[in-house]
Amino acid sequence: MIRYDEKNKVFLIDTENTSYGIAVVDDRYVCHAYYGKKLADTDIRYLLREDEAPLTPSVNKRETGAFLDFAHMEYPETGMGDYRESALCVRSMNGHRASELCYEGYEIVPGKPALEGLPATWGKEEECTTLKIFCRDALLGMKVTLLYSVFEGSDALCRSALIENEGEESFYIEKALSACIDMCDRDFEVMGLFGSWARERHIQRMPLGYGRQNISSFKGESSHQEHPFLALVTPETTQDCGEVYAMNFVYSGNFIAQAEKSQFDSVRMTMGIHPEGFTWKLEPGKRFTVPEVVMVYSAEGLGKMTRTFHDLYREHLIRSPYLHEKRPILINNWEATYFDFDEKKLLEIAKDASELGIEMLVMDDGWFGKRSLDDSSLGDWFVNEDKIKGGLNELVENVKKLGMKFGIWVEPEMISPDSDLYRKHPDWAIQIPGRDITQSRAQYVLDFSREEVVDAVYEMIADVLRSADISYVKWDMNRQLATLGSFALPADRQGELSHRYMLGVYRMQERLITDFPQILLENCSGGGARFDAGMLYYSPQIWCSDDTDAMERLAIQEGTALVYPVSAMGAHVSVCPNHTVGRVTPFETRGDVALLGTFGYELDITKLSAEEKELVKVQVEKYHKYNDLIREGDYYRLASVADNGYYDSWMTVEKDRSRALLFYVQVAARANAKSRFIRLAGLDADKCYMVEGKVYAGSTLMNAGVRISSEFGDFKSRLIEITEA
Ligand code: GLA
Repeated sequence: MIRYDEKNKVFLIDTENTSYGIAVVDDRYVCHAYYGKKLADTDIRYLLREDEAPLTPSVNKRETGAFLDFAHMEYPETGMGDYRESALCVRSMNGHRASELCYEGYEIVPGKPALEGLPATWGKEEECTTLKIFCRDALLGMKVTLLYSVFEGSDALCRSALIENEGEESFYIEKALSACIDMCDRDFEVMGLFGSWARERHIQRMPLGYGRQNISSFKGESSHQEHPFLALVTPETTQDCGEVYAMNFVYSGNFIAQAEKSQFDSVRMTMGIHPEGFTWKLEPGKRFTVPEVVMVYSAEGLGKMTRTFHDLYREHLIRSPYLHEKRPILINNWEATYFDFDEKKLLEIAKDASELGIEMLVMDDGWFGKRSLDDSSLGDWFVNEDKIKGGLNELVENVKKLGMKFGIWVEPEMISPDSDLYRKHPDWAIQIPGRDITQSRAQYVLDFSREEVVDAVYEMIADVLRSADISYVKWDMNRQLATLGSFALPADRQGELSHRYMLGVYRMQERLITDFPQILLENCSGGGARFDAGMLYYSPQIWCSDDTDAMERLAIQEGTALVYPVSAMGAHVSVCPNHTVGRVTPFETRGDVALLGTFGYELDITKLSAEEKELVKVQVEKYHKYNDLIREGDYYRLASVADNGYYDSWMTVEKDRSRALLFYVQVAARANAKSRFIRLAGLDADKCYMVEGKVYAGSTLMNAGVRISSEFGDFKSRLIEITEA
């Protein structure tokens, strides 16, 4: 519910358990009043501390600058005296960088307006409500609409903004973030997700000091290294207690997320497109939409935050018809063959896989142009019939005869210097004239800011998809952006390239899923460099990481599941010694860890031993038995090996709390260790449950725990079903 208290000039945006308060000061400034646990009334103006030095401008008649540097603002700007991080920086045609937004009015509407060309949460009119706050800078003729939407039954709040030029002259937007919250410090700690290639999204938590701590990427993708998620937590925060303020960006390109503690011990939390290299020229009559930030406040620890994100993304972000479906168990040939395969090898894999219950073959990189290594042919999207003899359709039909579906890998945004496409259109690569183009994995990036480039690549790929019965596409993106320049943009618009590039990617993904609704799309970026909420709008699943080692995956999947539903996490069983770290783990454990995701295989199944093949059958059976529960249930993190050094545990609970599944991995054996008790979560305390043949009260399982014996040896996993008795 969204209320406006006319007398106090206060907006209160309520969700089931939270309130967000905004107040208008001096009929002009849009100030932040409150965010936290639900409030009963709107009489919260005292929170603005208008009677304290340096006072509000209307009272002291002069200290605007001091006021601006102290006040809690909704959408702070550069240039008028607020020296903390700004959300908006605009440069006029005569070179001045300042703006002064004045409140003009508001509207509360049912539903949620779509964000032009951008991924965003969505909902029916009766499911959500939006507050629009209108502001204007008179000198520039700039209108800014701040958008706040809430959904029935969710504690999330979604923010965006629309910047319109209603003036006579163009201006340049140099920075336009999506969300800002100012609040008093409560000894906050900063939580984020950090990593590297094959080591994505490890959780890091550290105290917030004075100054600015930022998490960012200007690599042109959300990145392996840092992640568009930021949470401020009170020091006592655990999975089930403490306060959490979290922001997650529904965007896949450059971002900045920042926490700043000021001289007055107030904390400003911001998130949006990274201003590095960004400028957007806004001509009269044009508008610019900033991408969405989803904010979640939880007074019940990290677990509640996680489940709020999961539910929102499953109900109001991911659109795929496959979202609530059990996905076909796939086998991907990448780690099995790398580039060295032909149709015979693929059919051998498919044959053995189909006999074990695997349902789809995915042909990875290397089927097109004349690609036999990673140094050519990106952009030449036609089948290499020297490798795939008889052509794609014949291969697909043969795979289908085995009772399996067929999927294919593409990397649409890239172009190899050694490709027909590059020879024909060298200007289609992103580049700065006169400089060598930065290469990475021997490839250049296509200028997806240009419609004709996106359309040409789309047509090539669509032809392939039309030529055979293809059920799945893995869309990869294997390098960052550099030497940024577009032949299609004038000098004063070069700063628009990175964002226009993302809009091009989104446009093509939208076209793909519209034209081929039967295709299950999985995004990927050198593993998990683009595992973000933006991508989830187009694909219900994303490849989590190129690291398929079961132990490494514990941290990667824990960090990913902190924000994103496990139904979206691409997770496969691969061979040992593991290709990334050389570790040897039991086949059973690899299967149990991959069950917490979309599940599949990434190995040469023809080389598995008879015993391993039997284990594949068991894993396939477990997948069919438990996937509905894992995909749709509530996720609870029970223990992290990162904290205790020995074991990892999580569970998933059916919404009606009638059934649950406990995962436990003994990562390291411990000498002379006794059994442990793992306290369950999310069950009904008053119900009785059957666990391994014995009935326990829900309260016993949650307060005293399930007893897990210590095992001899490392990397041992257990999967325990809990059913209402
Ligand atoms: C990336 C992906 C891998 C694989 C290769 C192919 O690294 O993450 O899964 O598809 O590209 O080149």
